[in-house]
Amino acid sequence: MTQPISTQSGSTRASFASRRLDVHGEHLVTTVLPSGGAYAWEVSGEVGSPLAEAVRGASVPASPPALAVVLGRDYEPAADAALLDAVARARSCGLPVALLHEGAGGVSLLRAAALEVRGLRFGSVEVAARTPRALSAAPAAAAASLESAALGGPGQRREVLVDARGRTLTGQWRPVELPASTPPSTAGRAAAPVLVTGGLGGLGLRAAAAVAAAAGVRVLLLDSRGPGELTAGEQRLLSRLRAGARAGADVLTADVTDPRAVARALDRAGGTAPSVLVHCAGSVAGGLVADARPEDLARLRAAKSQGLRTVLAHLDRGALRCLVAFGSVTSRRVHPGMGGYALANEVLRRTALRVAGGLPGCAVVVAEWSLWSGAGEAHRMGVVKDAARQGMPAVPLRPGMDALLRMLRRPAGPEHAAALVVTGAGDRGFPEPGAAAPGR
Ligand SMILES: NC(=O)c1ccc[n+]([C@@H]2O[C@H](COP(=O)([O-])OP(=O)(O)OC[C@H]3O[C@@H](n4cnc5c(N)ncnc54)[C@H](OP(=O)(O)O)[C@@H]3O)[C@@H](O)[C@H]2O)c1
Repeated sequence: MTQPISTQSGSTRASFASRRLDVHGEHLVTTVLPSGGAYAWEVSGEVGSPLAEAVRGASVPASPPALAVVLGRDYEPAADAALLDAVARARSCGLPVALLHEGAGGVSLLRAAALEVRGLRFGSVEVAARTPRALSAAPAAAAASLESAALGGPGQRREVLVDARGRTLTGQWRPVELPASTPPSTAGRAAAPVLVTGGLGGLGLRAAAAVAAAAGVRVLLLDSRGPGELTAGEQRLLSRLRAGARAGADVLTADVTDPRAVARALDRAGGTAPSVLVHCAGSVAGGLVADARPEDLARLRAAKSQGLRTVLAHLDRGALRCLVAFGSVTSRRVHPGMGGYALANEVLRRTALRVAGGLPGCAVVVAEWSLWSGAGEAHRMGVVKDAARQGMPAVPLRPGMDALLRMLRRPAGPEHAAALVVTGAGDRGFPEPGAAAPGR
């Protein structure tokens, strides 16, 4: 199923990368789901929405009880409590949980909970449009997603999309070829800098250095940490980056979730309009779903999705040519104890693909990386070797940064916006075994 990204003849970096990484994108295929039977749905979440009404309307009182968490188009703060409450009820009463949403997401949290709570059954249905056919098909799809072993076991994807015509679709992973490894075009835009959020972090510093070297443009490193908080090793990296960045490198200190701080920092940078945004700001924290509080989930999400929206609100969107958001494969393949981080990355993916609609001249990629070796949080935590032993080879630094440069070459426009999963080559767990769409 997997194949390496293509080799560019004459490019040492690309041929190096081709041996070390796999890149996958998700494609939706129409799927006939087996019947899931009837349920007596107990609805929570956005209980007044047409989708919630449709679920209540399909409820059959004498049937087995099940929880339906209904969410809307955006992941609102109240969604955390709704999902956590449902998981708590599922644990205490043994009820299955179906998530029905209109784009908000949240299934990654349920996927983690199913790995942590023995016997927890869950399913997920995304409704693409509020058409009568989609709304009436959604409850049956939810029942089917609870039942269908063909959609994967605990911790695997159990997601169904219902389109405007009421058809059910499921995702399949396909290898994706990245464009040739040439620097992003700066023709006529010599002054347009590259903005890297989380730019003083392990990967942010390297991403900034890679883009600065390839494109010869000024880099702006936006981070909540100031340069004074860097370790000696990070200071040396920053000095090297400053010395190597032909057009200069500036550190901007701001929390990406604080609109005023972001505005001040960008003003200090001279009001120039970046042509490239690499959004790396984020943090990792573990913990069981059962122990999580809504504020824990919100905190993990903040720098990623809220941060992306805040930064974009202060940029000249018309000048932006590329946006790469650093997400994680954890949003697709979760591990016990990583539900909050998985959810943060799922919501980031959905946010970035949503904002792509307002960026017609911009290439948008959500890079859902596996763990990296050579730099970054996983490397610092010393978990890379263990992961490789479990069949999850890391993304090595140089091929990973080469892949980032190649993502910057993807075509502009919302129709090309994509979430791409990048793993070390030969990852045994991705795509998930047995998670292919039924009937394929
Ligand atoms: N490392 C990996 O293996 C890996 C794998 C997949 C995805 N990713 C993703 O890639 C991105 C970079 O990861 P990394 O390993 O380089 O992590 P990192 O070394 O911890 O760097 C992240 C940087 O973002 C900053 N930051 C956090 N919250 C912020 C906020 N609200 N405003 C501004 N800056 C903020 C952090 O500052 P503080 O230290 O002060 O919080 C840190 O400097 C993250 O989004 C991560 O989830 C990493």
